[in-house]
Amino acid sequence: MLPQWIIEKKRDGAELDTGEIRGFIAGYTNGSIPDYQMSALAMAIYFNGMTARETADLTVAMMESGKVINPDCIPGTKVDKHSTGGIGDKISIPLAPLVAACGATVPMISGRGLGITGGTLDKLESIPGYRVGLGEEEFFRTLEQVGCSMIGQTAEIAPADKKLYALRDVTATVPSIPLIVSSIMSKKMAEGIDALVLDVKCGSGAFMKDIENARALARGLVDTGVAMGKKVVALITDMNQPLGRTVGNALEIRESLDILEGKGPADSQGLTIELANRMLGTAAMPVRRTVQALLDGSAMEKFKQMVACHGGNLSAGLPVAGNQIPLNAPKSGYVSKADAEALGRASLLLGAGRAKTTDTIDHAVGLSDLKKIGERVEAGEPLCILHSNGHEDEAQLRQLLGSAFEVSAEPVESPPLIIEVID
Ligand code: URA
Repeated sequence: MLPQWIIEKKRDGAELDTGEIRGFIAGYTNGSIPDYQMSALAMAIYFNGMTARETADLTVAMMESGKVINPDCIPGTKVDKHSTGGIGDKISIPLAPLVAACGATVPMISGRGLGITGGTLDKLESIPGYRVGLGEEEFFRTLEQVGCSMIGQTAEIAPADKKLYALRDVTATVPSIPLIVSSIMSKKMAEGIDALVLDVKCGSGAFMKDIENARALARGLVDTGVAMGKKVVALITDMNQPLGRTVGNALEIRESLDILEGKGPADSQGLTIELANRMLGTAAMPVRRTVQALLDGSAMEKFKQMVACHGGNLSAGLPVAGNQIPLNAPKSGYVSKADAEALGRASLLLGAGRAKTTDTIDHAVGLSDLKKIGERVEAGEPLCILHSNGHEDEAQLRQLLGSAFEVSAEPVESPPLIIEVID
């Protein structure tokens, strides 16, 4: 079948069969189908959607465009977590060693940050020497010795997604649920895992701004994983305010270390434990030990071992910004808004993220001591502390931060972090 006939079929709202989807993706991966035909199909999918069966077929086709890790190469019960990304979301960093300390194996392939949401790899790279690019043998050895390893996506994993994601970025076809689902799941399912927990963020600082879209994405992710024979559960969690009290790479590593010491902010600590329990439960493993593993130091020990296997040196210290500037509350009251999107943009302006893939990151900068919605604040007390190396556009930063927080005279309830569970 010619590519234009497949495009025509989807354009007219018909369902593509497995062979058509596989043939199209194989042709796009090997270059026989050009970008302009792939863009046309992506736009037809954007407008007409895909059935659950088509989405699963697209996911398998993209996964099989590259290497799929043989589960027999990794010991134990293998479980992972994927977050759709949010401001201050550092949970993967304490979570992987915590779950490893409880007996599961976590082969985590993570991404870099782009736009206002930071990436796990950028955060890990603020640890001097940490290498995210382990070869396959070193990755397997780390998993065997430690039980967790956090690496970057290799060129061999889902190359069709790599090509298609770049194309979607410039053809206005990123916000399509079947395209997002197949993009995320083709990479995760290539990890050779038995079970997966998804954290679908919902709110101003997330990809999905409202609950209907977050629910549709969570449903699509879970159904696709289940269709591929895996155990999958999704949590929809709030991203209207940043997670935890820090935003920025080294600052988020410090908060992760606090969580691993059994301390840390209530929300990021609580979500780490909840996701760990869900990962172990989804993988049919006992969930009793998670809090104990934080308190007895065994999760921290796993983290230190993993960092050492990746060449990192925690005792060399984390980068620190030259200036710490408090943003003070103009009046006393209760925090009623701590807008994740505005605070994410402020952190980007300080240099903690990248607006385009070629930008470099300043690991030291960002925000700390963030006040949370519902907390009491006195006039002149910091709503957050800016960590700056003086390279930002001050006027723009002041404008952003001016609208990020609101303080109300009346008490404000703290919003629930976990909104829904989809399984
Ligand atoms: N993350 C991905 O990996 N793919 C998407 O399409 C969107 C978010």
